[in-house]
Amino acid sequence: MNASLEKLVSQLGQKRQHFSTPCYVYSIEDVANNYRKLKESLGTSLIYSLKANSCLDLIVRCGHIFEDGIEIASVGELNLLPRGESPRYTNNPSADKAFIRAAIASKCTLVVDNLSQLEIIKEFQGKRPINPLVLRLNPSTLDQFVEAPRGTRKDHFGLAWEDTLKALETCKEQGLEVAGFHVFRGSYSFAKLASSTAQAALKIVEAFEETLGYKISLVNLGGGFDLNWESENFDFVQYRNLLSEFPAHINLVHESGRAIMGTAGYFVTEVRYAKSIESRRYGVCNGGMAQNFLLAKTESAFKRFSQPLILREGRIVEPEDKVDSSYLVGTSCNKEDVIGEVKGLEVRPGDLAVFSHCGAYNASYTVAPFLTLPPAKSYLME
Ligand SMILES: Cc1ncc(COP(=O)(O)O)c(C=O)c1O
Repeated sequence: MNASLEKLVSQLGQKRQHFSTPCYVYSIEDVANNYRKLKESLGTSLIYSLKANSCLDLIVRCGHIFEDGIEIASVGELNLLPRGESPRYTNNPSADKAFIRAAIASKCTLVVDNLSQLEIIKEFQGKRPINPLVLRLNPSTLDQFVEAPRGTRKDHFGLAWEDTLKALETCKEQGLEVAGFHVFRGSYSFAKLASSTAQAALKIVEAFEETLGYKISLVNLGGGFDLNWESENFDFVQYRNLLSEFPAHINLVHESGRAIMGTAGYFVTEVRYAKSIESRRYGVCNGGMAQNFLLAKTESAFKRFSQPLILREGRIVEPEDKVDSSYLVGTSCNKEDVIGEVKGLEVRPGDLAVFSHCGAYNASYTVAPFLTLPPAKSYLME
């Protein structure tokens, strides 16, 4: 058991009354460690992607950790985030005039998704200072420069290469400065695609600089890191060698949400009732997919439910041989609302189920308004 889970178990044991369930509990220390380890392995700057977890208390307390910046994907996220020292980047294909105006007013750097957004930005030129722009490139643009990887899904984010060239010309004509470009090849893509992304990006730097007639300063290589990126056996030494081929005037950055937040969060729910139906045991909990949508695994073809730790009167309950699983279910009327499997254990009312790896997207990617069920509380582990 890792140190933060041990700490949480002890706090739930000693101060149960301090936690209202269902709840998320986050470890700032784990966020700091995750950020530092990933940044050191990459040897580049590292931007935090707020969409993974936008719990305000946590973000405020982690402000100093995210020294290289935060990526913001909506006007809601922008309004939520108090202004700090670190740079902020706004990035969304649907960003409208109001979002773009607010982003410029708050001194964010705009990541431009399409030519229409560039037209909107032109309208603000001369009225307010606009930070040098970052052009978001669709992953297909990389195929111009390196062999296209097999089996990658197309997506709709960013500019096609033809539009990228048009955008560069427009910026040049209009005197809109371009800082560089950004490319994100999708969640979980890093280990497979990072080297080819970097190889293509090296050539794209040349193409940008030739078209613009000046040197660019920023290349965001995206991310898509797995939660367990450290155990993927990715050769970071070789990768850093490849990155050292970029010209010295380029600030290289990566962007991550999951790898920074994923292991730093826990979800705790209490078993309210226990029952059996045709020899299948259920623990009906006070939290479920309405507070933690991802646990229900609705997006997985083969469901392998998370296995929480069970605490009974403050102590961990060990599984027993020859005892069947109990399935933990949530509070909604959706039959998909099964959030965990407890192997070898008959859960009882009052048991606490503690789920690990719930720091990224578990809270933020949850369909909250359904049945107007109460949201989960959030606590920071001291
Ligand atoms: C542009 C961009 N950057 C970063 C991320 C964060 O990805 P992850 O949490 O997998 O690191 C996403 C996720 O969708 C994204 O769209």
